[in-house]
Amino acid sequence: MQYGGVERQIFATAEEIAAEAARIISDEIASHDQLLLGLAGGSTPHATYTKLADASIDWGGVTTWMTDERWVPPADADANQAMIRSTLHTSGRIRFLAPNTRLELPEAAASRMTRAMRCLMNRRPSRAVTILGMGDDGHTASLFPGTSALTDTSVGYLANWVPRFDTWRLTASFGLLAAADVTLFLVAGEGKAEAVARIAAGEELPAGLVTAGERVVWLLDEGAASLL
Ligand code: 6PG
Repeated sequence: MQYGGVERQIFATAEEIAAEAARIISDEIASHDQLLLGLAGGSTPHATYTKLADASIDWGGVTTWMTDERWVPPADADANQAMIRSTLHTSGRIRFLAPNTRLELPEAAASRMTRAMRCLMNRRPSRAVTILGMGDDGHTASLFPGTSALTDTSVGYLANWVPRFDTWRLTASFGLLAAADVTLFLVAGEGKAEAVARIAAGEELPAGLVTAGERVVWLLDEGAASLL
């Protein structure tokens, strides 16, 4: 189904979402010399990374980047980049850009990541695809409801204070996420159903505000789609 340049595909299980997302990404990699691939944290995207790591893919033309990061050391168990390194990157060397969370201040890490991303994008990769998840509150990346990052109009990376977790997060801005040609939302479980339905009804939760140059595709399981 398509609505407003946004497509929805519904699958029986999260496993099927991961398989379809891995298929789409594999196809994108195979059909473009240079691909900029944005990666989200979270358990639903995690399943896709494991499938991609097991597939026989030539990663030579791919640059991956972390769409958001917790303000913890890079090797911390909670760090998204640690999860990426222990899943996707087990398949071999893949270019990867992630915020340097060893720096003193989140703002310094965010502005350094902004510079790096702008430099990457100025090299004009032939294609940009981003994988995102969504929380039960409708957040995506670390764009949480009610946080200052939601009103930022820059194309870059932001330090975003998240009162819900009483912590800093680093996140791509909406402007940076919008630079993708294709964005895939991987959303599974009944816990997400209310947010999915609220977004489909037009409520402006953060995940519903993400745009892309060509298409935004929501890959949902039956639980997440159960209130549509
Ligand atoms: C993070 C993620 C976050 C995640 C969603 C969905 O740092 O946690 O980037 O945006 O993608 O919360 O996570 P689940 O798929 O685990 O529900």
